[in-house]
Amino acid sequence: MILVTGATGKIGSAAVRLLGKVRTLVRTPASGADEVVGDFSRPDTLDAALRGIDTLLLIGPAVAAQTAVLDRAAAHGVRHVVRITNHKAHADSPVARRREHARIDAHLKASGMAYTLLAPNFFMQNLLALAPEIAATGGFSGSAGDGRIGMIDAHDVAAAAAVIAAAPQPHGGRTYLLTGPELVTFADVAREWASATGRPVGYRRISVEEHRAAMESNGVPEAGSNAQVFGLLAEGDGAWLSDDFGAITGREPRGLRAFLADCVGGKQSRA
Ligand SMILES: NC(=O)c1ccc[n+]([C@@H]2O[C@H](COP(=O)([O-])OP(=O)(O)OC[C@H]3O[C@@H](n4cnc5c(N)ncnc54)[C@H](OP(=O)(O)O)[C@@H]3O)[C@@H](O)[C@H]2O)c1
Repeated sequence: MILVTGATGKIGSAAVRLLGKVRTLVRTPASGADEVVGDFSRPDTLDAALRGIDTLLLIGPAVAAQTAVLDRAAAHGVRHVVRITNHKAHADSPVARRREHARIDAHLKASGMAYTLLAPNFFMQNLLALAPEIAATGGFSGSAGDGRIGMIDAHDVAAAAAVIAAAPQPHGGRTYLLTGPELVTFADVAREWASATGRPVGYRRISVEEHRAAMESNGVPEAGSNAQVFGLLAEGDGAWLSDDFGAITGREPRGLRAFLADCVGGKQSRA
């Protein structure tokens, strides 16, 4: 039996659809046939969720309580953990949530359970937060400059996670780097968004400080660390590609054009 956490999120919801029969851990009751209502920070709920589980697909924010989930998983005899981390999860990262990811990854490696880490680049779904600004102003602002980024569709992260969770044994001890098929800039995003919608879209390059202030005034959570990441992206933090997605799934990852055509184009079929 597989347990999926973060099952209401971008990766988790897609992974559950692909895997079919799984148990989920959710904070708010949904409609899952086999779901446990709980929280990483409530150990009693973790025991109910982990009973009888062989494989844990651990998805969620980089909060310290994920280490408690790992401890409970080991105690319940979970054999393999597939965990979504960050592509720059290092103990000395300037970004707090990346340091926390590194700490949780180290905890997992020392747990005695088999593990697979999936380390994705920037999610294309992050771009959808630009929609209100584009609708209101005909463009968007950002501080990633002309940094090139190997953006990936979070549904492809889910596809890789589902393949591994369904048959984890050959993937034990591996860290996979996940990207889309190409390096793109935010100028490319503006051009492809315009092409998908048939309306011009401008890209206003602003400083990290201006970006942080704009996100704060719009009530964006973690505006400070998000602006910090955009500044790093401008310096090439996301300028890398990997073939790992194709090796795991046997197909090509989705590119930016297809993603935007699907999500903001005429049909707006999915996010
Ligand atoms: N965005 C990026 O560009 C990017 C790039 C690389 C790596 N990542 C990593 O990818 C992961 C995010 O995946 P995602 O995009 O699928 O996340 P998401 O859409 O933000 O969903 C987060 C999920 O975690 C659940 N959750 C939050 N706090 C929880 C708690 N205390 N206990 C149990 N569940 C909790 C949420 O439940 P609710 O629905 O109840 O809130 C939700 O299901 C993070 O680890 C992130 O660092 C993101």
